[in-house]
Amino acid sequence: MDRSPVVSSLTTMNLRHRRVFVRADLNVPLHGNNLLDDYRLQKILPTINAIQKQRGYIILATHLGRPRPGDTEPSTKHLIPWFEHQGYHVIFETDLSRAAERSHDITTSSTILLLENMRLFAGEQSGDTTFAQQLRACADIYVNDAFGVLHRHDTSVTLLAQLFEPHKRTIGLLVEQELAALNRLLSNPPQPFMLILGGGKIADKIPLIEHMLKQINTLFLCPAPVFTFLKALGKPVGKSLVDEQQLEQCLTILRKAQDHNVTVIVPCDYLVAHRTYTGTLTYASAEHFPHEGIGISIGAQTLYHITPYIQHAGTIFYNGAMGMLERPDTLHGMKQVLELMTQTQALTVLGGGSSAAVAQRYGMVNGFDHVSTGGGAMLAYLSGSKLPGLEALGINK
Ligand code: 3PG
Repeated sequence: MDRSPVVSSLTTMNLRHRRVFVRADLNVPLHGNNLLDDYRLQKILPTINAIQKQRGYIILATHLGRPRPGDTEPSTKHLIPWFEHQGYHVIFETDLSRAAERSHDITTSSTILLLENMRLFAGEQSGDTTFAQQLRACADIYVNDAFGVLHRHDTSVTLLAQLFEPHKRTIGLLVEQELAALNRLLSNPPQPFMLILGGGKIADKIPLIEHMLKQINTLFLCPAPVFTFLKALGKPVGKSLVDEQQLEQCLTILRKAQDHNVTVIVPCDYLVAHRTYTGTLTYASAEHFPHEGIGISIGAQTLYHITPYIQHAGTIFYNGAMGMLERPDTLHGMKQVLELMTQTQALTVLGGGSSAAVAQRYGMVNGFDHVSTGGGAMLAYLSGSKLPGLEALGINK
């Protein structure tokens, strides 16, 4: 795959008084109407500011969550206070015909026309050309800065981009930065290379592990991916998250890891929630994993065991949070792993929306070489898959 840099033409295009459609990934964690983390919002600001500097007018669109047909939430209106707090004037629009009309009324660059959550429109995930045309009517120029959703075929990410002539569409500054940072992991990263995997969605992580086995020296499996591996090996996992479809694949990966001399580390103790994710927390050793327990994070013994691997690594790539953002008492193990990473000289890359949120919560974002806004998109890119959002722009990566 071609790994040469992809450069945004945002700063060289003439944007003066043009309506610029910015497809962002502002899929931030919300608890009711409250914003739990604003990392993805922060990361879109350079693109917004670059457009404003050139006197362009911003039409901002994002998806938020995974609403079902008929839902009216989550709405992007919950993001308005954040933008207003940053000094922008926000016009919010749920109706696309009105949005097209109002897009012509914007007269100042400090105004943002914010569209309703793209996924509250049926056409966003059904490949609807009429929906794409309606969005097209809102803008003259298209900028895709939604790194976290480049691996999806959502209409505003793919079909819409194709409705703009090649010289009127580009990636944004965040996507440019993300691709450059991830390419560093793929082209001769400093050795030894340690891959740390937590989070859910094991099925998305299997291709990544397979793809990276040739490159890495150490694979540290954390909750929750570790439990599917342990189940495949017949070890006790209580009621922890297991993907039954991936058991065979896990065994294959373990065999391949051995062929490639990759050291696979699994925790020797866990933070366990009793019966449900909100249940009482205790620590348990791997051999005496409680029947009713759900493994959430790692314990002190495990941390002690992995510390030298982290300290001596040349590159560390960590993907997938351990613990739950809405339950801070579960985040201790992850915080300590992140702290260790920020203290090394290694090339450190952290990925996944929730991982970034944990780093942000503890003020550690600047301690990493790169903190990606993408979860699945980053995994897809690093696994060697084509990203539909880039292909739609005519970028063959
Ligand atoms: C993410 O949070 O990984 C992106 O915003 C993509 O969201 P999705 O997995 O719901 O498509």
